[in-house]
Amino acid sequence: MSDRVSTGVPGLDSMTRGGLIPGRVYLVKGSPGTGKTTLAMHFAMAGIANGENVLYVTLEEPSENLRTDMSRLGFNLSNSNLTIIDATPAAERYVLMENFFESFAEGMDKMLTAIKEQFRQRYYHRVILDPITMLKLTTTKELDYRRAFLTFVKTMGHLKTTVLITSELQRTDVEEYLVNGVTKMRMFEIQGKLTRGIRITKFRGSGFDPTVRPYEITDHGIVVYHDRVLTLP
Ligand SMILES: Nc1ncnc2c1ncn2[C@@H]1O[C@H](COP(=O)(O)OP(=O)(O)O)[C@@H](O)[C@H]1O
Ligand SMILES: [Mg+2]
Repeated sequence: MSDRVSTGVPGLDSMTRGGLIPGRVYLVKGSPGTGKTTLAMHFAMAGIANGENVLYVTLEEPSENLRTDMSRLGFNLSNSNLTIIDATPAAERYVLMENFFESFAEGMDKMLTAIKEQFRQRYYHRVILDPITMLKLTTTKELDYRRAFLTFVKTMGHLKTTVLITSELQRTDVEEYLVNGVTKMRMFEIQGKLTRGIRITKFRGSGFDPTVRPYEITDHGIVVYHDRVLTLP
């Protein structure tokens, strides 16, 4: 039995010396198209494959798209251990986010309430929030955002679940200080060719590989080449 939680991407597990530490909150950052959602799906699927319960809060991709993309990666969607909360602004029920453009704190609060409600029904080993940027866009005060984010991290800590949050902003954000680990995904265009690089910048409680490693997105999802170095000309 491993005391680590697999990300679902073997190369990334190697970079973290065996996977994520259970019960902690991790952040994956990158610009659009870098593969954050794909990585989140790997993380979800690894949990399901392991017989765990997975709660996926989708804030940008409507749940139907998410399901289609997951099945494309070979995931069997009939699994009842997966719960998807569709919190996209376009969601038919619009449950979580009806006030979301008015107040970030309220949006975050509603999301926490929805997550806690799910936990009352059963325990979830993994929780995914993809991407938090959607909530952050509504923040007018940085301090409110910090408070709400901290409340979120603390609540997740009490629920003793492993959390993966994706975020689209590239600059150093306050959330980087509040989470246990940060992974950054980047794309470069080199001589007209798209090159992708992944790097762990923070990983509390363990050693990790701090080198930028090349990765690809294939028909089977993300492949991280943990034993190669990303060469930039
Ligand atoms: N089969 C595939 N082969 C190569 N690239 C793919 C494939 N499927 C998806 N992609 C690429 O993956 C990216 C989508 O990743 P996604 O996880 O949605 O990114 P993000 O959530 O960071 O915006 C797109 O840039 C797309 O071009
Ligand atoms: Mg995405």
